[in-house]
Amino acid sequence: MGKLIVGNLKMNLLTVAERDRYLESFKKELQGKNVSECEIVLCPPSIHLESFVGKIEKNDFSVGAQNIFWEDRGSFTGEISAPMVKNIGGEYAIVGHSERRKNFNETNEVVKMKINSILNAGLAPICCVGETLEDRQNGKTTDVIIKQIHEGLADVPVSKIATVVIAYEPVWAVGSDSVPTSDEIMEVRILIKKIFADTFGQPVAEKIKILYGGSVKAATAKQLCIDPGMDGVLVGRESLIPMEFVKIAEIINQNI
Ligand code: 13P
Repeated sequence: MGKLIVGNLKMNLLTVAERDRYLESFKKELQGKNVSECEIVLCPPSIHLESFVGKIEKNDFSVGAQNIFWEDRGSFTGEISAPMVKNIGGEYAIVGHSERRKNFNETNEVVKMKINSILNAGLAPICCVGETLEDRQNGKTTDVIIKQIHEGLADVPVSKIATVVIAYEPVWAVGSDSVPTSDEIMEVRILIKKIFADTFGQPVAEKIKILYGGSVKAATAKQLCIDPGMDGVLVGRESLIPMEFVKIAEIINQNI
């Protein structure tokens, strides 16, 4: 199965010049690199979604939103909807990122509504789950992840469940330089597979893609993705540096 390499560009690329430089440099970095077993997805700020889609050539990369609102249209000042992302050529939407859970009160209930809207629009949700440092220290990692998946995916019909991508992002590893060991990541992968097998059946559990996110760098990509058997990575800071981001994809590609 190919690997999914997702760049979450967060609230960066402030000017048109900066955005265009990023895209040019990204495309240049990709030239001649062997990433044939990887699907690369870039998730820029929503204001740049359309220009990123416009720059895609020869399936170099796909585009996703960092967030959407759960209604399709209407009086929701400042929001964008899943059909809007779909209609300009987006393919993915991140949901339940820990920064949104923390700063914008994105609860499991909100995640559930957003996932339904994303699936109804024909996009693939990248649903982030993961424990805080406190949860981990209190032995609550398993409980937190079970709850996030059960509640967040509660309304997803079995026919659509295989479209969901889960990103395991321990909150304490995001934006820090601490990362879990390969074994710790593998334990969570096995837990997530078991939750899916118990809830939706084994065939679905086999299909579901599980990414790792949190301080992924080229130097640690193998240890954080390949060794624990993950289906790809969700990258923050390093995705802002095209050379490093493409290097992560190359290393993962080489080690599949
Ligand atoms: P960093 O790679 O900067 O730790 O961010 C991870 C992340 O939040 C990706 O969604």
